[in-house]
Amino acid sequence: MMALRSLNRNRSVRGGWLAVAVSIVVVGLLVMASRAGVALAAERIAIVVDASKTGAKIDRNIFGQFAEHLGHGVYEGVWVGPDSPIPNTRGIRNDVVAALKAIKVPNVRWPGGCFADEYHWRKGIGAPGARVVTLNPNWGGVIEPNTFGTHEFMDFLAQIGSEAYLSVNVGSGTPQEAAEWLEYLTTAQPSTLGKERGANGHPAPYKVAYLGIGNESWDCGGNMTPDYYLSQLKVYSRFVRNFNPAQQTSNQMLKIAVGPGGGEPRWTEWTEAIMKAWQGHSWSWDIDGLSMHSYTVVRWPPAFKSVGFGETEYSQILKSTLDMEKLVTTHSAIMDTYDPAKKVALVVDEWGAWYAPLPGTDPGFLVQQNSLRDAILAALNLNIFARHADRVRMANIAQMVNVLQAMILTDKEKMVLTPTYHVFRMYVPFQDATFVPVAFDAGTYTHGDVTLPRVDAIAAKDGAGVLWMAVTNIDPTRPVDVSVRLAGLTPKTVSGETLTAAAVDSVNSFEAPGTVAPKPVSAKLVGDELTLTLEPKSVTVLSIRR
Ligand code: AHR
Repeated sequence: MMALRSLNRNRSVRGGWLAVAVSIVVVGLLVMASRAGVALAAERIAIVVDASKTGAKIDRNIFGQFAEHLGHGVYEGVWVGPDSPIPNTRGIRNDVVAALKAIKVPNVRWPGGCFADEYHWRKGIGAPGARVVTLNPNWGGVIEPNTFGTHEFMDFLAQIGSEAYLSVNVGSGTPQEAAEWLEYLTTAQPSTLGKERGANGHPAPYKVAYLGIGNESWDCGGNMTPDYYLSQLKVYSRFVRNFNPAQQTSNQMLKIAVGPGGGEPRWTEWTEAIMKAWQGHSWSWDIDGLSMHSYTVVRWPPAFKSVGFGETEYSQILKSTLDMEKLVTTHSAIMDTYDPAKKVALVVDEWGAWYAPLPGTDPGFLVQQNSLRDAILAALNLNIFARHADRVRMANIAQMVNVLQAMILTDKEKMVLTPTYHVFRMYVPFQDATFVPVAFDAGTYTHGDVTLPRVDAIAAKDGAGVLWMAVTNIDPTRPVDVSVRLAGLTPKTVSGETLTAAAVDSVNSFEAPGTVAPKPVSAKLVGDELTLTLEPKSVTVLSIRR
């Protein structure tokens, strides 16, 4: 619990600019709408999509996952061991693998989080029975058996068809330890480390696509100042090399530096310091991404319940999650100053809802349920990332299984897909699609003193020319009639699915796994106008084909 306590101490309430953020979103949408000549404040919400105008590619990596050695995120959630009665392949659960394959996970960040800065990779290789048993002081002080280590992680990635995003230990490790890990993983030569990897069952070099240099180094990663971290970053960037011959001239490993954890001055100063140094960097070091962490929590310590809440908590959490827009805008603007060509990506590699632990669970395990509210929250954040696709090229929701805003919950042999999972599945077509601007008057939804845009929408065109739209109705009681004028293409057919449920706090449980599940939606297409009714509190994804 040490890390949890220190997080609580060091994070402040970000109430100051919440209202500003929401107003900016609303005003922005109104401005876009008036530019497009759409009538404002209509009962029916009018959306204009011009498929001939395209923006940046929505990098599939914004749909990345994060799997930390924390609670049952890895052990039980992914790894059950080869001798388990739970169906598995080399110790990795088959049901979880099948579910993750269906959402086309582009990358998995591992082994942490705070855990990464205490992880020593050598303890996680070699004969399973002979591995060193350590402790996990960050997360409940439990035993870390090290049975899920480098080879098991790479095997898991191969099984789900994903890429490795390794976080190396800067806090309590050394550049040499990290450099040796990468040599072990990636060399094709018969160095002692290369031969050791072969002896451990994998003669061919592994591909490591992304390298995170530290985690929250301003806090649980060692409480460093920007200057101190920068000196570490330069050394790690220089010496932690990827030797895989297939990654030398193309598919090169991208290096991601620790970035901000909020919008306050300490974090704008951090972004400023890293980006300023990067602008003047020499040949001997470089980065490709700057990480940003932002949880939807309202205030620390996390106190909102993940089950059994009403409209007040629903509206407050969604208001808070829209802070992401302001945060991305703030840090992108600083990055633009030093990197106008947008070479360095903003990598939101920890995001999602962080609620109070479920009663009866170990508070160090960060166990929470996942409701329809989380599905809507996920859609709103993915939409923000898509709108900033020119700078936000990677993101990792926290966390993949059994921890925080998870895709999947497991209990021994049982597994359930969460409402958030369904949003990730519905959004698969947006992976690597090209952003298409949409213009609309979002309208408003008000509850108590919270006012939010009522509707959110994004559109994108895939490689086959299919236009995809995601439309969210935040309002939990009023349906919305939507009409979409489609310019720049001759639409022939439309189909889609929608995700909603009886209540904002509806969840999928092991007993009732289909409570929140997508169902087909009917939309009418007449000429270039598409009409449909969005159910209250729903996320809808449409495909429009020529
Ligand atoms: O995701 C849980 C923790 O939150 C991570 O370990 C840490 O990086 C963050 O503060």
